[in-house]
Amino acid sequence: TAAAAVRAELLRWYDANRRDLPWRRAAEPAGSGGSEEQRAYAVWVSEVMLQQTRVPVVVDYYSRWMARWPSVDSLAAATQEEVNEMWAGLGYYRRARFLLEGAKQIVEKGEFPRTASALREVRGIGDYTAGAIASIAFNEVVPVVDGNVVRVISRLYSIPDNPKESSTVKRFWQLTGELVDPSRPGDFNQAMMELGATLCSKTKPGCSQCPVSSHCQAFTLSNESASVKVTDY
Ligand code: ADE
Repeated sequence: TAAAAVRAELLRWYDANRRDLPWRRAAEPAGSGGSEEQRAYAVWVSEVMLQQTRVPVVVDYYSRWMARWPSVDSLAAATQEEVNEMWAGLGYYRRARFLLEGAKQIVEKGEFPRTASALREVRGIGDYTAGAIASIAFNEVVPVVDGNVVRVISRLYSIPDNPKESSTVKRFWQLTGELVDPSRPGDFNQAMMELGATLCSKTKPGCSQCPVSSHCQAFTLSNESASVKVTDY
């Protein structure tokens, strides 16, 4: 089916082009020398940092953070002042407060939640972060939809709907959920985000290099990549 081909081609592209980022290494089964719980913590910290901050900046902050608080238990024992000091320069301090509150909540609970729906119960963890942790650290077959994924999906299926409307957002989660690779959900989600952040850019998308252009309705409905009619988000 088309979905199977999209998954296979997207993952092949990701395997060949993925950036080697510290939290990706930590999320590997062999990485960080750690348990699944350890990997989930690493994914959580990195995804929260990535929400409003660019990758190169996050790399530095992430490394310092993990050196200081390598586990959810160590973070839970920190003070808000220490956390804010570590966060200084990243902005949106609410994110730092939620990380600390969430860590305390998880430690109190006694185990790291392992599913997207259980993760959503944690302070500050919404659909996006829950989907990222569950799929990347625990292999749960759930989607992740951020602004980049919205753009990829809107083009792939040529959806003109306004993404600011909640019914549209719901539809994107639904469509992405149907597309997620059942054997590699975490890599699939990261590949979608990365495709949206790189080739499938807002203006001048790199369709000639795109692994899924032959399945992309926005691409195939127009004649040349330079004038691809895309929904602009
Ligand atoms: N943007 C935010 N999180 C990401 C991830 N895990 N992979 C690629 N892009 C991302």
